[in-house]
Amino acid sequence: MAADVRGRFVTVEGIDGAGKSTHLGAIASHLGRHGAEVVLTREPGGTPLAEAVRELVLHRAMDAMTEALLVFAARRDHLRTCIEPALARGAIVLCDRFTDATFAYQGWGRGVDAEMLEALERAVQASRQPDLTLWFDLPADEAAARRAAARQADRFEAEDATFFHRVRQGYAARADASPGRFERIDATGTPEQVRIRAFDALERRGW
Ligand code: TMP
Repeated sequence: MAADVRGRFVTVEGIDGAGKSTHLGAIASHLGRHGAEVVLTREPGGTPLAEAVRELVLHRAMDAMTEALLVFAARRDHLRTCIEPALARGAIVLCDRFTDATFAYQGWGRGVDAEMLEALERAVQASRQPDLTLWFDLPADEAAARRAAARQADRFEAEDATFFHRVRQGYAARADASPGRFERIDATGTPEQVRIRAFDALERRGW
């Protein structure tokens, strides 16, 4: 991407265990290589209030609609106090998960009505959408094997492979609906192979 292109919003998505977080630092460095400010943030989270909501959503028992309302509440605060001001001053915002995760996890994973999620999306974001979404795609059983070797599971990571299969289908549906925004990255193989594919995807998009 040319040095003078600023004020862009990039999100990174994938089921738990797909390995996206491993690559965030390298992607952030790449996006900022011409001197642009890069704001690396995450959802749920990214502000003190939204990080408090994250703790609840990841660790307290609740029903699916409560989960959806809480992630959108956190998103509202995150947009208002972090993402929109950063974009307005010309920064590149790199966000680890955003609304595609809500459609995938709460919608496809938990069965929350898509129309309700769309209404919340409109209310919370107005027309704000990412400029680019990197979707690290891995079959649910491979992701489960990777998660088994990882840290103590939260409420989502403790779900079984059928849940993550549905979440993956949710991401595929979102990618099909917005092909101009989504780049699917094959997340099988070694971290180095995945990193190369991610950088190829950025290059294809002119970043
Ligand atoms: P992370 O482990 O990638 O930081 O993500 C935290 C968890 O939150 C992950 O399991 C996915 C879940 N999540 C949702 O269920 N809905 C959402 O809208 C977001 C942003 C995350």
